[in-house]
Amino acid sequence: MLNRFDSIFVVLLLWTVYAETEKVDAPPVSLGLYYESLCPYCRQFIVGQLWPTYSHLSVVMNLTLVPFGNAQVTKDGDKWKFTCQHGPNECYSNIVQTCGLFYITSTKTSLNFIQCISAADEPWQAGEKCAESLQLDWEAISTCANGTHGNNLEYEMAKKTLSLDPPHQYSPWITLNGVHTEEIQDQAQNDLFDLICETYKGEKPSACNVTKRKPYTSNHV
Ligand SMILES: *[C@@H]1O[C@H](CO)[C@@H](O)[C@H](O)[C@H]1NC(C)=O
Ligand SMILES: *[C@@H]1O[C@H](CO)[C@@H](O)[C@H](O)[C@H]1NC(C)=O
Ligand SMILES: *[C@@H]1O[C@H](CO)[C@@H](O)[C@H](O)[C@H]1NC(C)=O
Repeated sequence: MLNRFDSIFVVLLLWTVYAETEKVDAPPVSLGLYYESLCPYCRQFIVGQLWPTYSHLSVVMNLTLVPFGNAQVTKDGDKWKFTCQHGPNECYSNIVQTCGLFYITSTKTSLNFIQCISAADEPWQAGEKCAESLQLDWEAISTCANGTHGNNLEYEMAKKTLSLDPPHQYSPWITLNGVHTEEIQDQAQNDLFDLICETYKGEKPSACNVTKRKPYTSNHV
């Protein structure tokens, strides 16, 4: 049984937790990022826009990351064969990220992993270091990436990308609540933070009031 003082303490504690929690009174803003691991503007978007924005606004965001981009896929025996715009290193790094998305249950952590890889000089070599720095199971991720499982997971990424409507024309390709327009694309690449704050229909998270960031050059390949 709780005594009187414990009860007061519990009430205070709950109140504090409640007061510090952002109110979420509307559906989250769905953001889709269809990208490939070595394209410079994809990496710039992930590192310079998505990661900082998500770190402040994750409570009002529903993030979907799809590492495939402008790659192509064909059937090769009982496997899928991927051909990537920036060569085999990119295909490998796409699959490492795809396996990361599968094995890492927290979106925040998987984005940390992908951000770390994207910020590295040689992203295709960065998986292990990034996994270790985030205390993730690199063994599981790299075994997945080099095997049938990763091959099949990457095919799911290909399907998601190739079923976009309208079809994607470049990379990164951004959707907001399932919609892609040039305006959304430009706004996201220039100031994703503002775009999410603007789009969210509920009471704005406090971060929307305070933070101002410098604009980025919009671009894609
Ligand atoms: C999050 O996005 C996915 C993919 O677009 C969608 O299927 C899902 O319904 C969305 N969830 C919410 C809560 O909006
Ligand atoms: C997985 O494949 C990558 C790239 O081809 C290679 O560098 C690495 O050594 C392989 N890892 C294992 C565990 O086979
Ligand atoms: C944000 O600013 C507006 C107007 O300045 C204010 O009404 C609102 O309460 C603020 N919201 C938060 C969460 O601080």
